[in-house]
Amino acid sequence: MNNIDTKKILLIISGGISAYKSLEVIRLLKKSGATVKTILTKSAKEFVTPLSIASLSQEKVYDDLFNAENEAEMDHISLSRWSDLILVAPATANTISKLSVGSSDDLASTVILASNKEVFLVPAMNVRMWSHASTKENLQKLKNFGYQIIGPEIGDMACGEYGQGKMTEPKEIVSNIEQYFFNLEKNKKFKALVTAGPTHEYIDPVRYISNKSSGKQGYEIAKSLKKNGFETTLISGPTSLEPISGINQVNVNSAREMFNAVLDCLPTDVAIFSAAVGDFKIKNKQKHKIKKKEILNLNLEKNIDILGHISKHNSLRPKMVIGFAAETNNLNEYAKKKLSEKNCDWIIANDISNPSIGFESNYNKVSIFYKNAKYEKLPKMKKSLLADNIVKKIISHLN
Ligand code: CTP
Repeated sequence: MNNIDTKKILLIISGGISAYKSLEVIRLLKKSGATVKTILTKSAKEFVTPLSIASLSQEKVYDDLFNAENEAEMDHISLSRWSDLILVAPATANTISKLSVGSSDDLASTVILASNKEVFLVPAMNVRMWSHASTKENLQKLKNFGYQIIGPEIGDMACGEYGQGKMTEPKEIVSNIEQYFFNLEKNKKFKALVTAGPTHEYIDPVRYISNKSSGKQGYEIAKSLKKNGFETTLISGPTSLEPISGINQVNVNSAREMFNAVLDCLPTDVAIFSAAVGDFKIKNKQKHKIKKKEILNLNLEKNIDILGHISKHNSLRPKMVIGFAAETNNLNEYAKKKLSEKNCDWIIANDISNPSIGFESNYNKVSIFYKNAKYEKLPKMKKSLLADNIVKKIISHLN
């Protein structure tokens, strides 16, 4: 497999004894045809020399944020935009700590903070440093930011101790990167649609019925699908979220508009219905603003069930249909009922009675109910990380 022959890799080497292995990483990447530009941190220069890296990579080596010559040739933002992927190998405990707080006091950390690309970290450190609670906490934060982690391995260390903390072997690192680009390429053939956010069901021109959905989870899923190569359409109810670049986004107000947008987007391979669609709409929406009265009775009628309609439709149904169930009680029972009644492949259920997860929060805690009667409970995590986990499962299901 060689999916990196046209790729541009930005390698960041931080200062650890395993930095010497990064020379082999450069050699293997170059051998596969990739272009490799390298940034050395100040302490990395104590372990490997810019000259050896420049000779191997045949590219300029960057090391100083405030270097007029470098900034004129390729500034730190252009350097991060230039790359297809950023690889930090080795990622020392100090680098991990700096990245976890968004530090930007040197070229390496600034480029990563400014990056819009996938970042792979290859940790390498002493076993005690690796198992320290602060490293664990920092790493969890980085995983939540969406960084990918390779290793570390268990074995004899340069310091003479034994345990987990060894940098993964160069061959293995390059194979992880190849796999990443391979998946991107393979997933390009898949089309995905995501519904997200609330709907607004108008009573008159200025008033509507809605709910507390922020749309965050659906947007994160769309972002992750796109990141993994899917051709993605996001059909969004009104939210305050920024549009995601590279995604076809259709903004709608009402459930009916959302339904029509879904129909326009079909056929797709996978459809994820995360929107909190209003169950009811106003039967006689008023053309003019309703004036104040003693009593106002609203005449409501049921909205179309978008997920149910699409999922039970013989010809419209995507290969894979995923619904959500936001519940305040009897989560398992209601989720299983929705799974079968709406003919879904999966239902992702969350308990919205807990304000620290669900609707407006950046965190979520869900259980996934599968068609084969199995279900799995996932721990509380950032919505972005949950999205990555869900998309990983979608990819293995589709393949
Ligand atoms: N859904 C939909 N169209 C609707 C209502 C819901 O597509 N008119 C989808 C949601 O996007 C979600 C799933 O159906 O994926 C379940 O939504 P939820 O609001 O939890 O359930 P309801 O079917 O509305 O049932 P209830 O309100 O009784 O829990």
